[in-house]
Amino acid sequence: MCGIVAYVGHQDAYPILIEGLKRLEYRGYDSAGVALLNAQDELNVYKAKGKVSDLEASVVGKDISGHIGIAHTRWATHGEPNQTNAHPHLSNSGNMALIHNGIIENYMSLRKELEKRGFTFKSDTDTEVLINLIEDVQQSEHVDLFEAVRIALNHVVGAYAIAIVEKGHPDEIIAARKGSPMVIGIGQNEYFIASDATPIVGRTQKVVYIEDEQVVRIKLGEELFIRTIHDVEAIPYVQELEMNLDSIEKAGFEHFMMKEIYEQPRIVRDTMRGRLHPDTNSVSLGGIVNYEKQLLYADNIVFVACGTSWHASLVGSYLIEFLAKIRVKVEYASEFRYRHPVITPHDVVIAVSQSGETADTLAAIKLAKEYGAVVLGICNVIGSSISRATDAGIYTHAGPEIGVASTKAFTSQVTVMFMLALRLAELKGTLTPEYRAELIQELDSIPEKIQWTLDHSAHVKDIAAKYKDVRNMLYMGRLQNYPVALEGALKLKEISYIHAEGYPAAEMKHGPIALIDKDMPVVFIATNRNTYEKVLSNIQEVKSRNGKIIAVVSEKDVTARGMADHVIEIPDCISIFSPLLATIPLQIFAYHIAVMRGCNVDQPRNLAKSVTVE
Ligand code: M6R
Repeated sequence: MCGIVAYVGHQDAYPILIEGLKRLEYRGYDSAGVALLNAQDELNVYKAKGKVSDLEASVVGKDISGHIGIAHTRWATHGEPNQTNAHPHLSNSGNMALIHNGIIENYMSLRKELEKRGFTFKSDTDTEVLINLIEDVQQSEHVDLFEAVRIALNHVVGAYAIAIVEKGHPDEIIAARKGSPMVIGIGQNEYFIASDATPIVGRTQKVVYIEDEQVVRIKLGEELFIRTIHDVEAIPYVQELEMNLDSIEKAGFEHFMMKEIYEQPRIVRDTMRGRLHPDTNSVSLGGIVNYEKQLLYADNIVFVACGTSWHASLVGSYLIEFLAKIRVKVEYASEFRYRHPVITPHDVVIAVSQSGETADTLAAIKLAKEYGAVVLGICNVIGSSISRATDAGIYTHAGPEIGVASTKAFTSQVTVMFMLALRLAELKGTLTPEYRAELIQELDSIPEKIQWTLDHSAHVKDIAAKYKDVRNMLYMGRLQNYPVALEGALKLKEISYIHAEGYPAAEMKHGPIALIDKDMPVVFIATNRNTYEKVLSNIQEVKSRNGKIIAVVSEKDVTARGMADHVIEIPDCISIFSPLLATIPLQIFAYHIAVMRGCNVDQPRNLAKSVTVE
């Protein structure tokens, strides 16, 4: 959580920092701030509660000059979201300013120690402790800022991506990271530092991803100088940035979420490109080709993930067990890391993450490695921490997902799950060639079917209008559509703040049915052919208790549509593929309800795009 951006170069820093913050706002948006070192060597710090636009409003008429600066958009961890707790934080002398993404876990003990040494604190944050720790080291050890940062970080327990500017050094920023992401863009006589590449896109193509426990001196006219906090030199590895400006703009849509929903036909095609071969009815997954044997003979494949990525993993578990007959477990990364799981070198752990930065998933990877398991990743962000921490992996190629609510990330992850299951089935010989061919041809047709679903979704807005004021909602599905029910409910609750729960439909009579009355709408995903009759019975049970029914049905459906109050059609498909289609109208439904309720669709309250803290 939190986004950091910094600049040093020949241009005015302020507009670059503000634009960078806006691109990073998805990471946190409860307060924002900027520090600029001007030509008179004055360090001007401006902070505001709220969004980057509030910060902009607050600096009108103030000195925003300077060719070097740091900026931050915050998702509060320590201390309430107010102006005082916003970053940047100044050291006691006022000579240096720091921005920080992460958590310093031992900040209380460090703060007490610093207080004994005469330091005082204005905020409740761990970040203000860190900048004063650095200042204390600098003063007592008589070292330069780079060295002070390196030494200080040896006393810190926790996660950080930090950037510091210091008076008297108008051409230099010191940065460091551990656990939180950081990328440096190298321009012509200028440097950009950010939490991810989005603030850098369009400015330079040359980037360096900073590794854990590295400290960097970014000085104009010099190459990047990197040492680990343990004082070992590291050589920067300069890479080409694989992202363009179009991919991070709204392209005429009112919100990123809707833009990303409509990108799904293309994204699913991109995810399959060069991997699904409908001409030979085969699948190739280059990223994991060296680990296919381990997957095939694994005692268990264990997915670790959080939120939407966990839902996609659950779809994956149904697919791999059904098609490839390999045992699969699906774990919340946050539980896995603490529950002492039984994992052996004969298991393959697969971490699934859009951002590639989720702290719990990273911790689960670390634990799985300690147990000796092969660890693979299914990740969207190229060069992210998870993609680097895993032995090998499959990129989803969904492009930057800016809306906090995941949409295209889910469908691209599920697409990877299909390809993985089909590849393993191919290797294991669990499917007849005819059936495998049928499945591969169907997967190949899914982008067109998603497009059809989008083209026929206008009435979803009318249905949303009818339910925008409800207080609760249930989502029911069976088999591969049970995770879709969970995902539909998550979309609704996270962006509209309506309480919603997903269930396997048959579980209804084991408790949730008690909730059904005229005020309880229930969304049924009634597309699976082999459980269709059973879902019809569940619909009947809700109907007879006066519950309202919204049914997602296949185009050719006859019976469910006659029972439901509202019907949403998806194209006919082989049942196991319906998650890739049924999820689309549920995203659109949640979107319209949230817009009608006046909610901030792209940046829902209390949330952040990548959860880089526990
Ligand atoms: O980046 P990750 O996929 O690891 O993020 C995990 C969850 O925080 C994420 O899927 C979250 O649940 C969704 N953004 C909600 O829509």
